[in-house]
Amino acid sequence: MEASLGASILDVRDVSIAFDGFTVLDGLRFSMRRGELRFLIGPNGAGKTTLLDVITGKSKPSAGHVFYDGHVDLVGRREAEIVRLGVGRKFQTPAVFRSLTVSQNLMLAAGFRHGLRGLLRPLEHQRAAHVRRILAEVGLEGKAAAPAEALSHGERQWLELGMLLVQDLQLLLLDEPVAGMTRAERDRTGELLQRTAQHRSVLVVEHDMAFVRQFGSTVTVLHMGKLLAEGPVEAVQADPRVIEVYLGRGHAKGRSRPESEGN
Ligand SMILES: Nc1ncnc2c1ncn2[C@@H]1O[C@H](COP(=O)(O)OP(=O)(O)OP(=O)(O)O)[C@@H](O)[C@H]1O
Ligand SMILES: [Mg+2]
Repeated sequence: MEASLGASILDVRDVSIAFDGFTVLDGLRFSMRRGELRFLIGPNGAGKTTLLDVITGKSKPSAGHVFYDGHVDLVGRREAEIVRLGVGRKFQTPAVFRSLTVSQNLMLAAGFRHGLRGLLRPLEHQRAAHVRRILAEVGLEGKAAAPAEALSHGERQWLELGMLLVQDLQLLLLDEPVAGMTRAERDRTGELLQRTAQHRSVLVVEHDMAFVRQFGSTVTVLHMGKLLAEGPVEAVQADPRVIEVYLGRGHAKGRSRPESEGN
């Protein structure tokens, strides 16, 4: 699939973090190679979103390091700096500018990574061409002039993914990108992720095992802030420890989370 799975793009070393005395990540070790599409699963509260918070600088661990691209430690850096280094994140709920059009959202996002300098650079036409390519990549060419608030739930998720893609990031972190999507929207998102991962490294937090199974990717299982299991999806699904803590509770058949969040 990938042309070259290369050196380490992400190396989380012995990261710990606690909130109000409750340990959420517990000496976690986790790594990914450049060009990988990796899935991160685990029960509610396992620490998946917190791991993304630590990688992106939103939360600071009490111990450990997060090496990006081999040697750059992300711990202690500001969120904006981490984006500039090439790491971007999509949250569980979409964050787009609702009253702006799809293209306007993408044009704005194209300038994010380079801050004001990016917005003021006299390269408007280049950016517009880039935005058109991304519109095609996420399948929203027909909606370019529509305000973001007129999009369906699935379309809004694709717009948000486009807003990451347009920034030319190296490592994308996606938190439950197919939550609340219809079957057809999930299929399209699956294709989009495959394409996206051809040129970038992508870490996807996902509860939907049916969705995860369609990729021949490595799956990492997090449990109580530690790595519980890692390997091909079939091996992970057959692992008694994983069945015990996670898959046994209704995820094995590919259902999404048991307590539906309703969005
Ligand atoms: N900023 C914070 N302040 C206090 N507690 C937090 C904070 N962030 C996370 N937690 C707690 O850490 C634990 C792990 O949460 P986290 O959101 O990382 O789990 P998760 O694996 O993403 O779960 P889910 O599958 O439900 O999204 C939870 O008990 C949560 O309440
Ligand atoms: Mg979460």
